[in-house]
Amino acid sequence: MAYNLLKGKKGIIFGALNEQSIAWKVAQRCVEEGAEIVLTNSPLALRMGELTKLAEECNAPVIPADVTSNDDINNLLTKSMEHFGGGVDFILHSIGMSLNVRKGIGYTDNNYDFTHKGLDISALSFHRVLAAAMKMDAINEWGSVLALTYIAAQRVFPDYNDMADNKAYLESIARNFGYQYGVKKHVRVNTVSQSPTRTTAGSGVKGFDGFINYAEKMSPLGNADANQCADYCVSLFSDLTKMVTMQNLFHDGGFSYTGVTAAVIEQMEK
Ligand SMILES: NC(=O)c1ccc[n+]([C@@H]2O[C@H](COP(=O)([O-])OP(=O)(O)OC[C@H]3O[C@@H](n4cnc5c(N)ncnc54)[C@H](O)[C@@H]3O)[C@@H](O)[C@H]2O)c1
Repeated sequence: MAYNLLKGKKGIIFGALNEQSIAWKVAQRCVEEGAEIVLTNSPLALRMGELTKLAEECNAPVIPADVTSNDDINNLLTKSMEHFGGGVDFILHSIGMSLNVRKGIGYTDNNYDFTHKGLDISALSFHRVLAAAMKMDAINEWGSVLALTYIAAQRVFPDYNDMADNKAYLESIARNFGYQYGVKKHVRVNTVSQSPTRTTAGSGVKGFDGFINYAEKMSPLGNADANQCADYCVSLFSDLTKMVTMQNLFHDGGFSYTGVTAAVIEQMEK
């Protein structure tokens, strides 16, 4: 069901890797709601070739950008503005990567070169995109910028490793940049804290199956899936949420405020 919530709006979607990606679903929903989009991902991800399928479906250009490169971000924003003939109304940052997680190095043994790289990709990149956009005046008045995050920023999930620190940093950037961009141009900046979701990045976390099943039992509504996350993102890009900014918004079926559920107690009593 489409409501034309994004009719006439233009946006940039980072991080669609394959059909499981949350960004993939957000891109599809944005277009369904009337938006025009530009898709972007790292040159490495683009070589995997799947994004062209989404680009054709969404009638969207693909502009490569490694989010650790200022030049790539500037080029992406310049080309997007040329394509749209002006600024954008929304941006989705859907990017996360930890080399420590990937290489199976536990939190107390973290390799700091890997930590730096993960922080740069997963958190600093959000600052880099916002700062470049502000300098180039690339986001229209009352624009909306979102990054995806996880509750490990507030509570300990041991196997989430250094991504927990990266997400805490990411959420802090949303608050601090949200203030600056709000004052300057009424641009709002928020993070959406999503339930565990079966994607390439999600499944990389050790013990993911146990993790996602536990969250399902611990959420009164169950886990939110990627399509539902896309619906929520659309609402936050729309004009219906103009006064929401600097927030970390839980999209998790109630998990974040639940102490225990009957389903978990029943499991423990077995
Ligand atoms: N899957 C989950 O359980 C879950 C839960 C909460 C939040 N999130 C967050 O959602 C976001 C999207 O992840 P996903 O689960 O859809 O997985 P995904 O693997 O589909 O997406 C991660 C994306 O990051 C991109 N990326 C990595 N390095 C990059 C770089 N240097 N430059 C540009 N892009 C780069 C990848 O190419 C990929 O497209 C991430 O921020 C993730 O932490 C995921």
